[in-house]
Amino acid sequence: MDAPTCSDALVLFGATGDLAHKKLFPTLQSMVERGTLDVPVIGVAKSDWGLEQFIERCRDSLIRHGDGMNEAGEKLVSLLRYVDGDYNDPHTFELLQTQLKDIRNPLHYLAIPPVLFGTVTKNLSITSSISDSRVVVEKPFGHDLESARRLNGILLSVFQESQIYRIDHYLGKEAIQNILYFRFANAFLEPIWNRNYISNIQITQAESFGIEGRGNFYDRTGAIRDVLQNHMMQIVAFLAMEPPRWDNQEMLRDEQHKVFQFIEPMTPDQVTRGQYEGYREEKDVPPESTTETYAAARIHIQNWRWKGVPFYIRVGKEMPTSCVEVRVNLRRPPQVVFNEEGSNRRNFFRFRIQPKVTIGIGALAKKPGEDMVGEDVLLRFLDPVDDEMTPYERLIGDAMRGDSSLFARQDSVEAQWRIVDPILGDAVPCHPYPRDTWGPTACNDIIMPPHGWDEPIED
Ligand code: BG6
Repeated sequence: MDAPTCSDALVLFGATGDLAHKKLFPTLQSMVERGTLDVPVIGVAKSDWGLEQFIERCRDSLIRHGDGMNEAGEKLVSLLRYVDGDYNDPHTFELLQTQLKDIRNPLHYLAIPPVLFGTVTKNLSITSSISDSRVVVEKPFGHDLESARRLNGILLSVFQESQIYRIDHYLGKEAIQNILYFRFANAFLEPIWNRNYISNIQITQAESFGIEGRGNFYDRTGAIRDVLQNHMMQIVAFLAMEPPRWDNQEMLRDEQHKVFQFIEPMTPDQVTRGQYEGYREEKDVPPESTTETYAAARIHIQNWRWKGVPFYIRVGKEMPTSCVEVRVNLRRPPQVVFNEEGSNRRNFFRFRIQPKVTIGIGALAKKPGEDMVGEDVLLRFLDPVDDEMTPYERLIGDAMRGDSSLFARQDSVEAQWRIVDPILGDAVPCHPYPRDTWGPTACNDIIMPPHGWDEPIED
């Protein structure tokens, strides 16, 4: 198979918006610095601006959120072009076409609200290079199963699936890719990575802050749609999938998809919801809102490897700490030798995704002294690398090279929605919880791992 062609321009829709300002320009600056971006960057937006103002916006972004105006920043600025116009107006796309006249394989990045996807993709079809272009789509990819299908239909009316790159930035995280690597590269792990040795898996995604002024978006979304349906499900897939072939983009995504196919749509008894106190007073949040800022769920993968092993997931804002952590708890050996029958201690594997990246193995060792009693020890390794790529840098680079392995495929996105669809909205009550706590106590009566939630361990 021929190697995919690299994109020869990056077209940024929503170029004057928040995402571009906070994340995308700093990412492009890093790419220039690393030598992976040296093509025109064409901003498109409706702001009644010219190129000069667009450049100023980029400079401001690099100063506030990037590495400042260094050599890479100046180089990035020199790559910028700008088209101002309404997405509904075909003239905007004629102007874009003028900018694209010598370009054969542009990468279109849709950093715009999903309601505009249809308009932009349809109008893009008048540009000449559409059949050789790629399109990156930002989350949220739909609001539920039906709207995700509708969105896919819109994109697929203009692009082939192989041209569409749906971003889930968790897939671009080094620590999440390492789950897959660690599992399959170590001989000691794979023989025990199944229902015979693993008793349960816990995934915690906790943030010690609230919705940070995003009331408008967040109140229509909630924790289940915002992070559980996508980021958490991708972690589940990497933990649970069968060995893929890394040199084949589709095989990795096939294996991810297979995991989702073995998860039944959730029922209300598998989920609990909470809302932090004070959420209803946040800007742009209605006073009677029942949107969840915390959710805990128990899912089951009904296949040969995982039957009977519950995956517990909890996600929340205004928690006591910020961290993303996976705990794979092993079954206990019979404790007859040292007469520690009542002990709750277990072996476990721990993948700390954030804030520090570490992998840990929880073991038991003898406590020094006359008695044959044990204590917990944690074997920890993996230090963060200084110039590690951010997920956005990794993923934009991949999309420009035509590597879609770490992007969500249509069937998987729909399968993820199918799993959570029955528990969206007010399917279960939403309980208040005080800030700085691990969610409502009422939730713990319903979704609670057999020995309780494992407290994240600080590194
Ligand atoms: C985003 C959500 O997709 O992921 C945010 O919209 C959330 O609400 C964020 O805070 C978490 O990402 P990260 O990389 O900071 O864990």
